[in-house]
Amino acid sequence: MSGVAKLAVVGAGTMGHGIAYVAAAAGCAVALTDADPAVLARARAQIAGAFTKAIEKGKATAQQRDQALARLTTHETMAAAMSGADLAIEAVPERLDLKRRIFAELESLSRGDTILASNTSSIPISEIASALERPGRAVGLHFFNPVPVMRLVEVVRGVETSDETVRAVREFAESLGKTTIVVRDTPGFATSRLGVVLGLEAIRMLEQGVASAEDIDRAMELGYNHPMGPLRLTDLVGLDVRLSIAETLHAALGDDTYRPPALLREKVRAGQLGRKTGQGFYTWEQER
Ligand code: CAA
Repeated sequence: MSGVAKLAVVGAGTMGHGIAYVAAAAGCAVALTDADPAVLARARAQIAGAFTKAIEKGKATAQQRDQALARLTTHETMAAAMSGADLAIEAVPERLDLKRRIFAELESLSRGDTILASNTSSIPISEIASALERPGRAVGLHFFNPVPVMRLVEVVRGVETSDETVRAVREFAESLGKTTIVVRDTPGFATSRLGVVLGLEAIRMLEQGVASAEDIDRAMELGYNHPMGPLRLTDLVGLDVRLSIAETLHAALGDDTYRPPALLREKVRAGQLGRKTGQGFYTWEQER
């Protein structure tokens, strides 16, 4: 068990509810909040469903589920979720203005020693934390989708992040069974900067008729042993999420490698966001 007895998670979408699930399963008290009550209710049902699947597979017992669900509370306000929190993780959409506003509010609601973490995949943590009074407590804590399965957590050290903050979040992530890497605060960090290149190039190849989506994916699955091809992975991550990351990196690095392909923009405009909407580069029957 790490020094984090209570975790607040802000944003109950794909990443937020996944983080809440693994933390509650590992023994933390978790307070989950979202501005949209419908998203919050769905998140609770998704977490309960994830426990049901884990029980069916013999990875959890009914008692562990009941105890974990008793440790998980949902709140319609950040103030309620932040009460007594040792660590807050925000997992809201990839918009700098939104994340900055949330960080400032979290700081005003927290004790002096509460750590404020962002699950951002691409925005420099120092920019998110620049308005804080105590930027030493701010850090990037980047989880991967699906959170229960993916072994990595990328810890992003901002210019002012303290050693103590880095140590505490590494210990927390490791208490969830994850392996951490520590990355200097640069656009896209280590993971998105590399991963997005593959995803965007696959979309450009589809635009240029190089091969079908299935065959482009099969190329990387069978030829490179990737667990999932880049287009299917874009569907899993969310086309809107990938587009935001590409826009951030294109603006920050000024490199055309990160320029979002027209097809990605078109699909996002059409609401084809991938698995979560049932349609992306593939048609999905239901969200897991
Ligand atoms: N929740 C819990 N468990 C899940 C799950 C979920 N959402 N999805 C899959 N699993 C589990 C399954 O239950 C299964 O467990 P067992 O081995 O115990 O049976 C295991 O994962 C494998 O699943 P499947 O057999 O259904 O399918 P698979 O072998 O094709 O694996 C996958 C699915 C784990 C998603 C795999 O394809 C994979 O690793 N894909 C790549 C994922 C990836 O790269 N994620 C990072 C995206 S980038 C990101 O998230 C960061 C960002 O900033 C955008």
